[in-house]
Amino acid sequence: MRSIATTKGFRAARRRRLAGTGAMLILALALLKSAEAIPQTAPARPPQNLQDTGLYADFESLRVDPKHLAFAPQYPLWTDGAIKRRWISLPPGTAIDGSDPDAWNFPVGTRLWKEFSFNGQRIETRYLERQADGQWLYAAYAWSSDGREAQLVSERGRSAAYPLAGGRSHAIPGVSDCKVCHQGGRSEVLGFSALQLSPERDPGALHTEARPDPGVDLNSLVEKGLLVGLPRSLQENPPRIAAGSATERAALGYLHGNCGHCHNEQGSLKNLGLFLRHVSEANDQPALASTIGQPVKTPAPGQSPDAVLRIEPGHPDQSGLLQRVASRYPALQMPPLGTEVVDGEAAELLRRWIAETDVFRRGARLQEKGGQK
Ligand code: HEC
Ligand code: HEC
Repeated sequence: MRSIATTKGFRAARRRRLAGTGAMLILALALLKSAEAIPQTAPARPPQNLQDTGLYADFESLRVDPKHLAFAPQYPLWTDGAIKRRWISLPPGTAIDGSDPDAWNFPVGTRLWKEFSFNGQRIETRYLERQADGQWLYAAYAWSSDGREAQLVSERGRSAAYPLAGGRSHAIPGVSDCKVCHQGGRSEVLGFSALQLSPERDPGALHTEARPDPGVDLNSLVEKGLLVGLPRSLQENPPRIAAGSATERAALGYLHGNCGHCHNEQGSLKNLGLFLRHVSEANDQPALASTIGQPVKTPAPGQSPDAVLRIEPGHPDQSGLLQRVASRYPALQMPPLGTEVVDGEAAELLRRWIAETDVFRRGARLQEKGGQK
């Protein structure tokens, strides 16, 4: 049902990024061509101004309505060093259905906001709202340079929204790009989930923001009656990534938060067989089993010829996955969208993890055998 938007969006995004690298585009399209075209209903229009989405109790002083709940996912998305703040609002008397721990169901009328600042300056605020027909509305609001106004950005997004290092600039994604990331799996909400809000936060997670105070996590949502149906096992044992070491836990968490929305078992990229999204029941074996010692399916332009494996245990420099994370060459870089500057801390973390995987490889393999369905 969602695949057409995803595919179209991905095509558009790749077309822009990959102008001149036709071979890569053909590869991406070949991977995606299984998606079918299904007509969609005309989308609702988001409000013209951010204040009309109801985020603020008082727009003059930018006081956020205290009824909204602030939250911070433990494995945030890297956006070139942007500082982010996030809020959720549920209609009075409603609750989230958490019975599927990997795809929560949000009531109609749920609203979510994510604000992006660079160097203390608000640049954009993104907005999601669940419509009566179950579809999500996507919008981005760009802040004026004096910070007094935030206006709806056109569906096509906005380039050069804020200058970054090395002559690059932050771009506000167009709606088709939002959907490539947000509609690539089972839930369109990506950072408000059991793992992301677990009270057992990973101390090694990269770029974490402090849990906002007041704010919500898994326990407080259940206590307030805002999350129902959460399996008892998750209430007793808060979700955490099972891993062979602290480095591996943080690395898998990073891959979940930054890659798993595209690379998972449901979305249009499933045929690639690269599964970086944490799945509650699977004990993380998909992310290990689909990377460690696994051949790169199609080498990307710019990848070194000795990188034949996605992860070559003990050899970070020969691991295709790390080469893609450490690059911003358009045809090679991962993620392909939403970032212009290499996440140096992530490259470093993945390097440490791959260097030590030698030690854990055997254990992972054994577990994998034992854990197969
Ligand atoms: C590169 C992939 C990517 C793109 C492009 C993207 N998002 Fe997101 N978005 C994420 C991820 C991953 C999260 C959760 C992690 C986080 O917040 O750090 C998220 C979080 C959000 C949230 C908070 C609720 C949630 O899902 O956790 C909102 C609201 C949001 N995005 C709106 C948008 C809108 C609107 C656009 C387009 C203008 C957009 N996003 C583009 C990946 C993306
Ligand atoms: C917006 C969607 C999206 C996100 C997010 C994303 N990828 Fe990808 N990835 C793709 C697509 C599409 C391809 C196939 C085309 C290509 O190879 O460029 C791909 C291919 C790959 C490959 C090559 C697999 C092979 O065997 O050929 C690797 C490795 C990879 N991605 C790693 C990552 C990592 C690591 C992250 C997070 C840091 C990430 N990706 C985030 C869309 C995404």
